[in-house]
Amino acid sequence: MDVGIFIPIGNNGWLMSKTSPQYKPTFDLNKEVVLKAEEYGLDFALSMIKLRGFGGETEFWDYNLESFSLMAGLAAVTSKIQLYATAATLVMPPAIMARMATTIDSISHGRFGVNLITGWQRPEYSQMGMWPGDEFFSNRYEYLDEYIKVVKELWDTGRSDFKGEHFQMDDCHMLPKPQRKIPIICAGQSTAGMAFSAKHADYNFCFGKGLNTPTAFAPTAARLLEVTEETGRDVSSVVLIMVIADGTDEKAMAKWQMYKEGKDQDAIDWMTNQGAADKKSGKDTNVRDMTDPTSAVNLNMGTLVGSYESVAKMLDEIATVPGCQGVLLTFDDFIKGMDDYGTKIQPLMKSRQHLTDAVA
Ligand SMILES: Cc1cc2nc3c(=O)[nH]c(=O)nc-3n(C[C@H](O)[C@H](O)[C@H](O)COP(=O)(O)O)c2cc1C
Repeated sequence: MDVGIFIPIGNNGWLMSKTSPQYKPTFDLNKEVVLKAEEYGLDFALSMIKLRGFGGETEFWDYNLESFSLMAGLAAVTSKIQLYATAATLVMPPAIMARMATTIDSISHGRFGVNLITGWQRPEYSQMGMWPGDEFFSNRYEYLDEYIKVVKELWDTGRSDFKGEHFQMDDCHMLPKPQRKIPIICAGQSTAGMAFSAKHADYNFCFGKGLNTPTAFAPTAARLLEVTEETGRDVSSVVLIMVIADGTDEKAMAKWQMYKEGKDQDAIDWMTNQGAADKKSGKDTNVRDMTDPTSAVNLNMGTLVGSYESVAKMLDEIATVPGCQGVLLTFDDFIKGMDDYGTKIQPLMKSRQHLTDAVA
């Protein structure tokens, strides 16, 4: 099973809580996390793009670095790990994004890939006059379909004359071509989003679900398998999971309880309202579902809480889900979490045995 790290490009990582570790994002923090990830044999690091935070007392995600520039810096100081940046496709014209990706492909010597997002939070774009109107909620993936066609033409041939509804190229040039086929991630959960992944992506990232229910995302992975049968393409699922680990199950659970008790309700409310802003096209096109109170404090991502042994066992269960290629990890404390994962959790995992064998 592949293991990746969702690096802390925004303040406080993925916990909207007053009692979780409080920190701002810096290049140095992200460099430390990624160098540790590389040392422990993780396969990839991904950074998100978030252009407006959720506020609240913790100013959640009000502080965010930019994804491509961060990954360019990390590309220069790493040598093995695969690196993915997230493209805010509404505000990055495809010919510019294609060239930025080619540049990081060059810096990283062929270790770079792109996560394509449509955007789901209107104020990120409306604050700069770049929201195309609420019809975008329902035609986001048609826009992205044209976007990736332009980008792939430029990467593959160095030119594009694409003419569509959203993009019109006029003998557009983009050289040099990247040194390898740049892998594409999409994290579509809706029908349209998954159809996009099945058609154009190499990986579809999805949200894990619930507390200590590592395989609860299996129906989402199964849906992807169904749609890829139609396109005949090889696209696998990677699941987003938060790990909160400690010496015993009880100690880890106490930390989780503490984070939940300190929840930043204003930030959670902002996110809930933005997730529900699409009143017209229905939930299927914008599924930031915050109705489950189990873990609203960490954006309802699947959460594994327990001793190092318990977490290792649960991560191994993820590897058994059909269609699942890997897991994307977040931690409450990224420095300690990365070290605990590398030295105490991974060595116990059957699905990462190849690394332990290699060290031995
Ligand atoms: C691992 C992962 C990473 C994501 N990264 C971003 C991101 O950087 N920026 C963003 O606006 N949305 C991000 N999303 C949201 C997705 O792009 C997508 O909009 C969401 O999963 C809902 O699916 P849908 O677009 O098909 O409705 C991410 C989702 C996941 C699971």
